[in-house]
Amino acid sequence: MERIILDVDTGHDDAVAIDMAAGCSLIKIEGIIATAGNTVLKNSLENTLNLTDALKLDAPVYAGSNGPLLRSQVTAGSIHGQNGFEGPVFGPRVKQVQDGNFIEFIIDTVMRNPGEISFVSVGPYTDLAIALKAEPALARNLKRIVLMGGSSTLGNVTSSAEFNIYADPEAAQIVFHSGADIYLMPLDCTLNVVLNPEIQQRLYSVGGKAIELFKASMTYYIESCRRYIHDYPAMHDPCCIAYLIDPQMFEFTNEEIDVETKGDLAYGRTCLGRSLTDFNVHFARNVNTKRFWDVLCNSFQQLKERIG
Ligand code: RIB
Ligand code: CA
Repeated sequence: MERIILDVDTGHDDAVAIDMAAGCSLIKIEGIIATAGNTVLKNSLENTLNLTDALKLDAPVYAGSNGPLLRSQVTAGSIHGQNGFEGPVFGPRVKQVQDGNFIEFIIDTVMRNPGEISFVSVGPYTDLAIALKAEPALARNLKRIVLMGGSSTLGNVTSSAEFNIYADPEAAQIVFHSGADIYLMPLDCTLNVVLNPEIQQRLYSVGGKAIELFKASMTYYIESCRRYIHDYPAMHDPCCIAYLIDPQMFEFTNEEIDVETKGDLAYGRTCLGRSLTDFNVHFARNVNTKRFWDVLCNSFQQLKERIG
């Protein structure tokens, strides 16, 4: 059983990460933290509550940070739409935001379960950075940190920077140098996981409520990505969950990573210095895409059995 705290900026691919985790019995979601990123906090929280309510997911949903540590806020409305999760339509909702402070939740959960909890961040790393600053012992008490972000080549927001890191470079630098055991899913890996028509049909044919929401969100997302010269959307965020379910599907190299926090043109770039000894990040280089889609398909099949 992989026990996780999942930090999201829901967002279309964040939603698929939630679907994959919610549908897999190997994953226990201790809590979800909605943070600002693809969209403002109000929207990512609303989107996360709507989806987890529809999936009948018991995990508490906390409100995270409403913006980056230092830089001015950036969002991704051009890709994810004005509310951050355009496409699916949700009915009235039962689930409400969890009372309490997300920082206290992270520290209490991890320190009471040393070596048991993995922190998964698929949006900007602001919340995790704040918690690590508040309690540096988190780094050695977390089982591991799994992050979506970065690139050893081109970015996807600027030519240098990937969105999750560009949205809060200072937070990323804090996390990368926290001393925790870090597994990073960069664009080098996630851009291999592309939702093409064959895969769409395979997943849509599973049927059920979760797939109907997935289909409505992907219909918008595919069109949105097409405007950005991408034939079909990459499933960035669910790669982090897929790693926890089946680590063998990924190949890693060990890298020292620093984040450019001073430059203008390269602000938010992940700078790699390959090392076999003094590294701080396991950097995913490739993924077995067949196994990835099998895992996602299985999660949707489990969700259909559970919620119809
Ligand atoms: O660069 C991809 C990342 O930025 C994903 O997490 C996506 O949801 C956006 O937040
Ligand atoms: Ca995201």
